Amino acid sequence: MRHGCGLPTGATTYQSGNCGAIFWCPLSLSRVTGASGNVGSEVLKQALAVGLKIRATFQSPDKAAKAPAGMEGVIMDYAKPDTIRPALHGVEKIFLVGPPVRDLPAMEANFIKEVRAAGRKHIVKLSALGGRESMFPSGHRDSEENIEASGLPYTFLRPNGFMQNLVNYNAGTIRSQNAFYGCQGNGAVSVVDIRDIAAVAVIVLAATGHEGKSYALTGGEALTNGQVAEKISRVAERKISYVDLLPAEFKKAILSAGIPGWSADALLDLQRLYREGKASLVTNDVERLTGRKPITFDQFARDYAFAFQAEAKAAS
Ligand SMILES: NC(=O)c1ccc[n+]([C@@H]2O[C@H](COP(=O)([O-])OP(=O)(O)OC[C@H]3O[C@@H](n4cnc5c(N)ncnc54)[C@H](OP(=O)(O)O)[C@@H]3O)[C@@H](O)[C@H]2O)c1
Repeated sequence: MRHGCGLPTGATTYQSGNCGAIFWCPLSLSRVTGASGNVGSEVLKQALAVGLKIRATFQSPDKAAKAPAGMEGVIMDYAKPDTIRPALHGVEKIFLVGPPVRDLPAMEANFIKEVRAAGRKHIVKLSALGGRESMFPSGHRDSEENIEASGLPYTFLRPNGFMQNLVNYNAGTIRSQNAFYGCQGNGAVSVVDIRDIAAVAVIVLAATGHEGKSYALTGGEALTNGQVAEKISRVAERKISYVDLLPAEFKKAILSAGIPGWSADALLDLQRLYREGKASLVTNDVERLTGRKPITFDQFARDYAFAFQAEAKAAS
């Protein structure tokens, strides 16, 4: 017996969720990997909203169980090649999302090897802006080079830092201390909203003509953390400060918050890139692909104002 999109018998599937990688098919089938993640889950949401036929992969059954209704989910672990092959069956395009860890190039190499063995499938890889300039983007560049060398059709999406990092990493101290911390000085960054990255991903997955292309995805303006603090203050209706630390102080703080060694070094290196003003480039790729302006930081801040409420107010 085969499932709807030709999934082989024996593969574990789920009909509801959140995913890490995404694959799919418009006429054929596409797949989203990393579907439980920040970007993967937004791509799933937008792809389903426009009726794309997609499958998503999840690392854990627990997360797969929360997948959106009407979507086919498969359990897959980049570290376990035998789980990758069944996930590729019948799929034409793949949205590849790896986690931001030291092993990303090795994990994605496992995946790319299985895709090559499974035939000619188009990989839309979520990468990062910055190339060899810093540790996180450099790992992504390793993967890009691996994909280029594979001979597979590909498209690279290279976003700058996410606006939603403010919610995922800084909202805790914004709520409890009216402050957030870093060591990027006055460096301005053209942060981009994850919803714009997902909109571009869905367009690229749904259409032809994007093979061999790379898109640099940024917001419409570059902002310092001082400017970000002012904008958050406006929606939070109280003063929020950005506190700039020395790199060594910031490293100590993130290590004591439980961030592992390599990730702390990579984060520090990214702050260095930001401090040097090397992440301030504004491109028009989001507008060119979606036909509308990128979401502004002011809009993002209004939409996520709930995440920045003071603890006492949030509890009432
Ligand atoms: N944050 C930024 O500002 C920024 C900027 C540019 C580029 N990026 C890049 O964007 C990518 C996605 O970011 P994100 O915030 O969406 O990441 P994320 O939320 O951590 O999502 C990563 C996804 O990968 C899945 N995953 C982890 N290990 C796996 C494994 N062994 N096998 C299968 N799936 C696995 C995770 O599943 P679980 O949920 O089960 O762990 C999750 O769904 C990262 O590669 C990051 O470097 C980030």
